[in-house]
Amino acid sequence: MSVGEFKPGLEGVPATLSSISYVDGQRGILEYRGIRIEELAQKSSFLETAYLLIWGELPTQDELEAFEHEIRYHRRLKYRIRDMMKCFPESGHPMDALQACAAALGLFYSRRALDDPAYIRAAVVRLLAKIPTMVAAFQLMRKGNDPVQPRDDLDYSANFLYMLSEREPDSLAAHIFDICLTLHAEHTINASTFSAMVTASTLTDPYAVVASAVGTLAGPLHGGANEEVIDMLETIGSVDNVRSYVDHCVEKRLKIMGFGHRVYKVKDPRAIILQDLAEQLFEKFGQDKYYDIAVTMERVVEEKLGHKGVYPNVDFYSGLVYRKLGIPTDLFTPVFAIARVAGWLAHWKEQLGENRIYRPTQIYTGSHDMPYIPIGDRQPSSSDLIASKV
Ligand code: ACO
Repeated sequence: MSVGEFKPGLEGVPATLSSISYVDGQRGILEYRGIRIEELAQKSSFLETAYLLIWGELPTQDELEAFEHEIRYHRRLKYRIRDMMKCFPESGHPMDALQACAAALGLFYSRRALDDPAYIRAAVVRLLAKIPTMVAAFQLMRKGNDPVQPRDDLDYSANFLYMLSEREPDSLAAHIFDICLTLHAEHTINASTFSAMVTASTLTDPYAVVASAVGTLAGPLHGGANEEVIDMLETIGSVDNVRSYVDHCVEKRLKIMGFGHRVYKVKDPRAIILQDLAEQLFEKFGQDKYYDIAVTMERVVEEKLGHKGVYPNVDFYSGLVYRKLGIPTDLFTPVFAIARVAGWLAHWKEQLGENRIYRPTQIYTGSHDMPYIPIGDRQPSSSDLIASKV
């Protein structure tokens, strides 16, 4: 077998055939199942969008109501999962807590019947229903409080904000949060979705699929960037410092968080919608001091890096929206995960349809026929020195 050209990061290498979502990075177009993201953000709800992504078609009124009802019914966590969470260190990152909880679901729902549509639906419902409860429960527990039970009279997004703050949210806030979930629900073969697909291809359970994707989403080059955007805006501190900050990053070739994308070479269409949502929130609840810094930064980065196709991505304005909704910074990525579970599950289901285990190749760059040196004759290596300092 001949070995093809190596593409770092597999850039441009098709990893699958998929009909779930489509991105045109030159024209700034994102579609879920052929429907533009702008239209879904305006007309659909997150759960309707999740249904569309996973089952391929918009649900009828009855189908949507049945789906919403099942999700309401499965929002609660087993007390053993809550007890397990109480043992987590409160200083731990909520993404690590979420990854552990998602994997733990596999212990409680261990039956695996990947060819049974009822099993697939039950797994979809459980994951969509319970992940928000897990995120909110960890937030309250790490402050030393008992988690609050989900409220059946509240819809998906309002219930999450309620479980987080123990207060019924403002209706505009809940509506905007729901749009944020729709915007983050799916995005072709990004790193976490690819993780999900690789894990799914071994025919393991869907909880392991989602747990592996959560671990991948956590990194700062992927979902973790929205947290770092807020840290960056805090560090910059004022509009007057924006230009020198950007100049420094450009000169030192540092990545500016919330900018750039492997696929988009124009402003991410989700960033356009999120900026508008941020402005709606500021109008109702008051300005955010970092918004002016962000807008100035977008202008300066475009001036300096626009020729390389570096523009705001989805993470640039999402943090400002979440801040205004009262969501703590280190929950931004778990909130991203709440939404992206829909996309991961859609790819899991699609993967099962035409499965072949992922097993790429490599181009070996190491040595051959090396002698085995007896332990007493070996010289310390640099890795030994690093290990001795840990
Ligand atoms: N700041 C400064 N320069 C950048 C940035 C950035 N954020 N992003 C890309 N560039 C530059 C690169 O230095 C490179 O310049 P060069 O051609 O002179 O070497 C050029 O633009 C192309 O960028 P690549 O690094 O090749 O782009 P890649 O596709 O490998 O990386 C990535 C994409 C990881 C998202 C990158 O843009 C980045 O690190 N951005 C910051 C982190 C971030 O916001 N991540 C969230 C992405 S969206 C998401 O995952 C949900």
